[in-house]
Amino acid sequence: MRPDFKRIAYVLLALGIILWGVQFSLRAAPGAPKAPPELPDVLGAFGDDAPVTTAEDWLARRAPILRGAFTRLIYGEQPKTVAPVVSARRVIDEKAFKGLARIEEWTLDVPLAHDPVRFHALVVTPRHAKGPAPVVIATNFCGNRAALAGRYKTVDRPAWAPARCRTPLQQWAAETLHGDDIIAPPFAMLAKAGYAVISFFPGEIVEDDRRLSQASLIALSADMDESQPRAGALAAWAWGYSRAMDAASADPKFDARRIALWGHSRFGKAALLAAAFDQRAAAVIAIQSGTFGATLSQTTRGESIDAITRQFPYWFSPALAESATRAELPLDQHLLIALIAPRPILLGGARMDRWSDAGNAFVAAEAANPVYALFDREGVAQPTPSRTDLSGDIAMFIRPGGHGVRPRDWRETIAFLNTHFQVEAPRPNP
Ligand code: GCU
Repeated sequence: MRPDFKRIAYVLLALGIILWGVQFSLRAAPGAPKAPPELPDVLGAFGDDAPVTTAEDWLARRAPILRGAFTRLIYGEQPKTVAPVVSARRVIDEKAFKGLARIEEWTLDVPLAHDPVRFHALVVTPRHAKGPAPVVIATNFCGNRAALAGRYKTVDRPAWAPARCRTPLQQWAAETLHGDDIIAPPFAMLAKAGYAVISFFPGEIVEDDRRLSQASLIALSADMDESQPRAGALAAWAWGYSRAMDAASADPKFDARRIALWGHSRFGKAALLAAAFDQRAAAVIAIQSGTFGATLSQTTRGESIDAITRQFPYWFSPALAESATRAELPLDQHLLIALIAPRPILLGGARMDRWSDAGNAFVAAEAANPVYALFDREGVAQPTPSRTDLSGDIAMFIRPGGHGVRPRDWRETIAFLNTHFQVEAPRPNP
């Protein structure tokens, strides 16, 4: 009997659609948790450390203790470093995006104990900016050349990129599933609104791959002693954001007091971590950052600690992979959010993305309010995750659709930054 290829093809197609539907419904997210988890008072005693009553107490005493705990127990130690040397600044296009912006590519060499770490940043500056431009430091998913849609062949292409970035067909599939802006920030939209963008590909610092990341992670912690917890990839990527801040704040074209960090999902986790550890980040935007981002890790209804550390052990300090530590983490992510106070934070969620559990990110954000109050700020100003109030120090929005980056995510980002950075769109000279 001859196999009926047509029928097999139909069955496979149907199976594919069913599987796609299943993974989508798994990600369907309820708005807010039914019973918000009980969290210990953010200002209460932490281990041996007495309760906190003033902003000075928080900054000088509690914050370093919390940073130490996040380093030791979850993310590992960021590399010790001095600022990078910007060893090349190449103009890629003087009048890109219909004359709106100038594109440069910077080569950043960060001196470390052994070999320097080299990575490249796309620097897109609005041409009609009056005075130093506010900056958004945004990671990209497929490397800098892909971030410019492959239009400029002289732009660096990273030695390694994730599978979904390798061919135009794979990139098209990634955009179809995860939105038009998954591969690159919308540079033109940001330039039009008056923002410079510095975009880098974290995979140039540490490959997002269990096996390949090992050598890079070991090299990054080469100057640490054995007792220090080695950085996982999230700490290394957070360190990348800080190095981009070094470069931005040394350049008079940019306003060093208005630097925002932006990241989606795994890079949203890294952006929050970077802002919690580096005070120069004046704002942070984390879209669907999920477990070990803005969402509570121990009570999440989405990705569990177990699931994330099994699939991505190299994102974390090696200690977290040991189950003993995992079972009794003495801290949760509301404390990471609190470390960013009093600076503005925007959290983005997507209705069908259950995995990143936006409801519990809202609970975490509200739990950080008492720390904002120490600085005479309100923290979260909205009553539920979806009743967005962008004037809040911590704001949240939930858009329709699934996990990914869509134009709405950037529209909310720009509106939030306009409010908190007081930016008005520049007008070209008549
Ligand atoms: C996986 C992972 C998440 C992560 C996401 C992403 O789904 O489990 O923790 O946020 O990838 O980066 O897109």
